[in-house]
Amino acid sequence: MTTKTIELPAPRELKMTLTEALKARKTIRSFTTEPISDADLSTLLWCTAGITRPNGKRTVPSCLDLRTVSVCVLRADGAWRWNASKNTLELLTPEDLRAASTMGQHAFVDTAPVTLVFVVEATPRTQMARPHWAYLDAGTMVEAAYLAGTALGLGGVARGSVAGPELGKRMKLPATYEPVFCFTCGHPA
Ligand SMILES: Cc1cc2nc3c(=O)[nH]c(=O)nc-3n(C[C@H](O)[C@H](O)[C@H](O)COP(=O)(O)O)c2cc1C
Repeated sequence: MTTKTIELPAPRELKMTLTEALKARKTIRSFTTEPISDADLSTLLWCTAGITRPNGKRTVPSCLDLRTVSVCVLRADGAWRWNASKNTLELLTPEDLRAASTMGQHAFVDTAPVTLVFVVEATPRTQMARPHWAYLDAGTMVEAAYLAGTALGLGGVARGSVAGPELGKRMKLPATYEPVFCFTCGHPA
């Protein structure tokens, strides 16, 4: 695994009210090719799994507080693991794996600027949470991503159709980490 990292800027403060965001939230599957800025990406990631307390607890709840699910990012410049405590992206592979994250049925995924990948840690530490509670953890995270995206003027789609184990291998994740869910996003077309 390489050590190349990108330091992300601090997340933005969202101005949309929660009521407005909930009313406006919807699935969008059509995007322009405009990249998502690092400030917007940082905000999306923080809302999805940002650490809010000294004990490491996050914006989202977690079964047994195991925090079994973490977030990776697929972009044209590679697959990245988000380090929440440092707010950095750590390069897993420079390969563009956006298209490889679907099972082929979603052409828009190939060019959408960002796909967040929710990755489950499958180790004895997290055994009590798997499989169902880990999926629920990922569900709370994807709703946070939807709401954050809405407040940022971005669009996105939750994707259960993920080529999990194969994608994990291509992302060069350790065998104990499996992609289970995605959120593909960009600027609405
Ligand atoms: C668990 C889950 C899995 C989903 N998987 C996919 C998917 O693989 N592909 C897709 O296009 N949409 C997927 N969606 C999005 C739903 O199709 C969408 O939320 C639904 O049509 C309702 O539309 P709305 O989000 O605009 O309210 C998924 C949503 C959830 C909650």
